[in-house]
Amino acid sequence: MCGIVGYVGPEEAGPILLQGLKRLEYRGYDSAGIALLNGSGVQVVKRSGKLSSLEQAVQEDSPSGTCGIAHTRWATHGAPNQPNAHPHTSSQGDIALVHNGIIENANDIRTQLSAIGYVFTSETDTEAVVHLIDRLWVEGEPLEDVVAAALRRVEGAYGIAVVSSRDPGKIVIARNGSPLLIGVGKNGETLAGSDAAAVIALTRDVVYLDDGDYAVLDMDGYRIKDIHGAQVSRTTHEVTWDLEAIEKGGYEHFMLKEIFEQPSSLRDVMRGRLMEEDGDSRLGGIAHHQPNLSRVRRVVITACGTSWHAALLGEYMIEELARIPVEVEYASEFRYRNPVLEDGTLVLAISQSGETADTLAALREAKHRGISTMGVVNVVGSTIARETDYGIYLHAGPEIGVASTKAFTSQLVALALVTLNIGRRRHLSVVQGGGIVRALKELPDQVEKVLELDSQIRSLAEAYADARNFLYLGRGLQFPVALEGALKLKEVSYIHAEGYPAAEMKHGPIALIDEDMPVVVLAPRDAVYQKVVSSIEEVKARRGRIIAVVTDEASELDGKVDHIIRVPQTIALLQPILTTVPLQLLAYHMAMIRGADVDQPRNLAKSVTVE
Ligand code: G6P
Repeated sequence: MCGIVGYVGPEEAGPILLQGLKRLEYRGYDSAGIALLNGSGVQVVKRSGKLSSLEQAVQEDSPSGTCGIAHTRWATHGAPNQPNAHPHTSSQGDIALVHNGIIENANDIRTQLSAIGYVFTSETDTEAVVHLIDRLWVEGEPLEDVVAAALRRVEGAYGIAVVSSRDPGKIVIARNGSPLLIGVGKNGETLAGSDAAAVIALTRDVVYLDDGDYAVLDMDGYRIKDIHGAQVSRTTHEVTWDLEAIEKGGYEHFMLKEIFEQPSSLRDVMRGRLMEEDGDSRLGGIAHHQPNLSRVRRVVITACGTSWHAALLGEYMIEELARIPVEVEYASEFRYRNPVLEDGTLVLAISQSGETADTLAALREAKHRGISTMGVVNVVGSTIARETDYGIYLHAGPEIGVASTKAFTSQLVALALVTLNIGRRRHLSVVQGGGIVRALKELPDQVEKVLELDSQIRSLAEAYADARNFLYLGRGLQFPVALEGALKLKEVSYIHAEGYPAAEMKHGPIALIDEDMPVVVLAPRDAVYQKVVSSIEEVKARRGRIIAVVTDEASELDGKVDHIIRVPQTIALLQPILTTVPLQLLAYHMAMIRGADVDQPRNLAKSVTVE
């Protein structure tokens, strides 16, 4: 959600900043802008709309400077137009600031400053901060001290970067609630970014700021101070993935690339973690916490969006194999309730980005109450990964497509590995565990088989591209898959879709069914298969059009439904991985045929770092 990039060094900053923004565009694409410091002051160029508009404007204006900041916006306060685009500047144009987050007391600051003559030109909360910095600046004071003074008066969440011609040659950045890191360059350059993708072209060495930290970046490196003004040192991490991972690699879209990456991302999440003979998993991230885990009497899983669907499947897995009661909570609801979190509860946060504001807040609430916390996270070094007591990484590599695909299937495998680990220390036998390990090992090849259905699914999408609604039905472990299938379709193709437990259909959605309603039914051969067949009959009786996802080679459904998607069979707990992949492809092709922007669907952002 909003991307920030900064550069100070020997080179022209403009092209480097634009390149960084390009890699961050998935975080927001309502507007974009850059500010460069040069001999004549601060030069700002900004445009509404996608980054391409800014690139064109930069070509025309050719701003120059070797120190600058840039931003790509996902609108919170104010419409996505040019005046609201970042950077925001002081009235004299000599201070420029970019911001990710929400300043909660912006209106108070705005009122106070307006009363003494400050003129606001945007509707954003951010502009209040830049005028506040101007107001507090005593001549001769270094930029970092003024920024720190201003931030002491600011309430809310922010990651900011500031430059000023009053104190040139440096960028001041600060973090409170919105991720920010420093890219440590090797040739006299220092960078800033809201995530590693912004800086990876120039350096793999990154330093994550903690909440309350602010830092000065210049050609000599960086200095970090904490909330109390004390100089602190933070660990340097090495980014382990390559630039290739955040490029399309021959695919038309990141979403398609990431769908097709699933055989390898599933191999990566399992690598070195399967112990077939012991029917167990080896998880370095939780190995030292076994005593804590053995005390767990109840698990609360919290997450948002697609990760919440993974959480629902985690509930089935943990209850079934580890026999521990589980509740799943939307993080955004959990944080404002007064949840009962007694001793023996484990709060498990699932997040691809590791930065989702609601999930982080839920986690912090649990920690505040002394509850132990665990993370299942993809982005290494992200806030949730750092703030949970322990956890495991997905190692799925960067996920750029806004609609989550490979992270979801990796989350399911990660949850299976965690469940196996906990289960084997409780009721799960070596034989049962061994069966799960063997099924896990087969999964990547089975996903490859599902991907071979791509052209069949594309033809199906062509047949239904004009549909206005879609219904997805599943039962038991396939119910969260129905939710995920519907979410994917909504996100990228803008077709209204609902996921429903198959048997619940008759308590409402059945009223919607007629010959114009495509219904995707998840019907793998499992314990509830026959029940799902009954639901299919009910849809058929009302002339609904049925697309069934099945595992049987040939079955009674063949003549009964309109279309069959056949996927390989695995154990019930892992079957959702194989039934989800065709639904990802269906959503992708529907969106493509309808001309939607698959990687950057309207109004969405990849990681939602505001409430
Ligand atoms: C946003 C994204 C979703 C994602 C959700 C949770 O809404 O568009 O794809 O599932 O956030 O994100 P997280 O990074 O916490 O998994």
